[in-house]
Amino acid sequence: MKTLGLIGAGHIGSQLARLAVKNGYDVVVSNSRGPQTLADLVAGLGPRARAATPEDAAQAGDIVVVTIPLKNLRDVPAAPLAGKIVIDTLNYYPQRDGHIADLDHEKTTTSEMVQARLPASKVVKAFKHIYAAELTTHGQPAGSAGRRALAIAGNDAAAKKEVAALIDQFGYDTVDVGPLSESWRIQRDTPGYGPRRTAEALRKDLAAATRPPR
Ligand SMILES: NC(=O)c1ccc[n+]([C@@H]2O[C@H](COP(=O)([O-])OP(=O)(O)OC[C@H]3O[C@@H](n4cnc5c(N)ncnc54)[C@H](OP(=O)(O)O)[C@@H]3O)[C@@H](O)[C@H]2O)c1
Repeated sequence: MKTLGLIGAGHIGSQLARLAVKNGYDVVVSNSRGPQTLADLVAGLGPRARAATPEDAAQAGDIVVVTIPLKNLRDVPAAPLAGKIVIDTLNYYPQRDGHIADLDHEKTTTSEMVQARLPASKVVKAFKHIYAAELTTHGQPAGSAGRRALAIAGNDAAAKKEVAALIDQFGYDTVDVGPLSESWRIQRDTPGYGPRRTAEALRKDLAAATRPPR
């Protein structure tokens, strides 16, 4: 990967952009209000960063992160993301996103909704259970004692391997939850959602997660 595209440049998007620049990648950030509204962020990120429209960011990224409120998922441009790895950080908060019956009744997961919106992309769920501010402060080199682990989920093994390598560069171990349909194990109100965990502890949390009845 040379360029990370970001659709969404808020708390999570801006932090991932910082990590990408720090690790030598180019970044293209985007939001709904237009590139001109991202001038301060881009200035802070330096010469490796530029702002663009979501379509341009999707086109430019070798890997693209979708990190917007779930309620706006329908706005994500599918065509320029076809064939690409798409990292999805989305969480479901009804008070922000409105009630979505299939999520309320545990019939699907946010990640499967992203995959359905982007059928030709390789969606990998990541960065959904770490607070944005911690992304740039909790990372440690590989092999560090107590290194924090982050869960990933996805249906494409090669895509997950590539995302795991990126997350390792960003300072974190990964634990593979399985396919997107298993990503509920790290959704809101599960034991692993939020607290700092090593890989071993996170595996236990994922195994202990329970899903409300459908
Ligand atoms: N904050 C956390 O600690 C955290 C942790 C893990 C996961 N998450 C999840 O990650 C996602 C992003 O969270 P966040 O805290 O970064 O949110 P945020 O700070 O509100 O930022 C959202 C970003 O998405 C952009 N956006 C909104 N609608 C868009 C659209 N239709 N097209 C393109 N860009 C759009 C916003 O730009 P505009 O200003 O143009 O609207 C903004 O840059 C959410 O689903 C959240 O639940 C958050």
